Amino acid sequence: MSRHLHRIAGLLALLCIATFFSATVLTELFGSHDAVARLKSLIVTPGLWILIPALAAAGGSGKVLSRHRQGRLVDAKKRRMPFIAANGALVLLPCALLLDHWAGAGDFGARFYAVQALELAAGALNLTLMGLNLRDGLRLAGRRKPSRSALAARS
Ligand code: HEM
Repeated sequence: MSRHLHRIAGLLALLCIATFFSATVLTELFGSHDAVARLKSLIVTPGLWILIPALAAAGGSGKVLSRHRQGRLVDAKKRRMPFIAANGALVLLPCALLLDHWAGAGDFGARFYAVQALELAAGALNLTLMGLNLRDGLRLAGRRKPSRSALAARS
């Protein structure tokens, strides 16, 4: 049960971040200010209401699963999770709320773009860390070939 929950929650959280990131880049490049404001609002509601529970469920169910599993891959996943959570709570969440507030008020000044750049950088970092957790999760579940270095370490 927790394995299914973990898989769905992890994939959903990763999909949310990937969607927010690519939609932000595309709308900033090609969209109007109205489109940017609409996207900022959608990222907060319903976006964050999906992302935050999904991330919490991925972390919680990962913890349960790791009770029965040990090793380098599990340790690496465990080490990444606090960075993913802190980056989300301390950078991505405040950025999303500020950007939504400013865009809703038509305020697209220098501070908007400074915070937007910070949000994209933090989003890219979380995408990378969550992508690595996905890769190691698939290896743990036997759905993906182990790396050459892992094979060499076994023999
Ligand atoms: C956003 C972060 C995470 C993502 C995207 C993610 C993704 C995944 C995926 C897709 C699987 C394969 C499940 C399957 O196909 O059955 C998996 C397995 C696993 N994950 Fe994660 N995971 C995340 C966080 C964590 C954390 C924080 C831990 C540990 C504290 C963890 C521990 C595990 C374990 C032990 C398995 C192997 C389950 C088994 O086959 O016994 N994961 N993960």
